[in-house]
Amino acid sequence: MKKLTKIVKAFDLDAPEDKNAVNQAALILKEGGLVAIPTETVYGLAADATNPNAVKSIFAAKGRPQDNPLIVHVADYEMLHKVAKSVPPEAEVLMKEFWPGPLTIIMEKTELIPDTTSAGLPTVGVRMPLHPVALAIIKASGVPIAAPSANLSGRPSTTTAQHCIDDLFGKVDMIVDSGSCEFGLESTVISVAGEVPVLLRPGAVSYEEICRLLPNTLLHSAIVKPLGESEQTISPGLKYKHYSPNAQVILVCGGFEGFKKYFEENAASETYALVFSGEKQAMNSENCVEYGAIGDELAQAKNLFAALRSFDELGAKTVFVRCPDKGGVGLAVYNRLLRAAGFKEVYTDV
Ligand code: TXA
Ligand code: MG
Repeated sequence: MKKLTKIVKAFDLDAPEDKNAVNQAALILKEGGLVAIPTETVYGLAADATNPNAVKSIFAAKGRPQDNPLIVHVADYEMLHKVAKSVPPEAEVLMKEFWPGPLTIIMEKTELIPDTTSAGLPTVGVRMPLHPVALAIIKASGVPIAAPSANLSGRPSTTTAQHCIDDLFGKVDMIVDSGSCEFGLESTVISVAGEVPVLLRPGAVSYEEICRLLPNTLLHSAIVKPLGESEQTISPGLKYKHYSPNAQVILVCGGFEGFKKYFEENAASETYALVFSGEKQAMNSENCVEYGAIGDELAQAKNLFAALRSFDELGAKTVFVRCPDKGGVGLAVYNRLLRAAGFKEVYTDV
């Protein structure tokens, strides 16, 4: 059923109008509705994590496969203990360093979290966001909030309210506009539910930073290669194609000269290039979008999804992408691009 989507702004929590927007959003959530909310990573499609019907409507609005569990967002440690059965020492260490922030920790769940939210798994991914508006909305609603990224399933995640309008207008009760997201990529996801910690999705909290605290952390192989049949259950989200514009994306690894040559030799009509900031000028083509300076992974992360979305507006059929560095936050940028490309990578030089 089509919903009447209300769009509100919340930038300054001291301003009465913005505070009012937060309270309205919280009320909708408490009553089982859907609200697109800002976070420091990407916008989230929020509902009461303890209400199976509300959570079902998240899956319906996104067109998300039912076997892909949702992240549960909490505003404080009291809420954490309501959703996590036990908090392992590894989780404590990570929370102390990175919460509130862009890190989701998978732990054993309590009965409060219905199977609809955890997609039948005995675990729950929990995150305490850093964004003041997200925290204020969760606090005011008084319930843990399930929120996947606020995009249609398979599309690039949303990093502005306009992206949420493009994907979800008529499907949610409210969109809360707080401008563009600080990081622009989804949170790092780590499981501490097994014998050793496993990084399932890289994000703004890097693998290197985590290993400094928990040196035995493993990197799940699906971060950089397609998931094998037997690996499908540890993180169901890893098996789906993600973040794609309509165009075929091809990741081109190597230096700029090799990239330019590859583009010149292989570009057909409606072929575009996604290059680093400052490289467009040297490309001899108007069909270029820039996504952050070379080596500046935080800037690349922040701009990536808006850039990928822009290719649909441009009517691109193919996009050749300059491959980012694979260390630090670069691993997260690389991981999203690999998935957007359906793992299609070419190497121009090594
Ligand atoms: O930054 C973020 O994490 C954003 C904002 C809104 O918080 N949310 C987000 O949610 O990206 P989503 O649903 O798009 O991605 C969640 C990922 C999926 O790959 C899912 O499979 C995995 O986390 N996940 C969630 N709960 C899990 C669990 N219990 N076990 C294994 N993987 C889980
Ligand atoms: Mg998502």
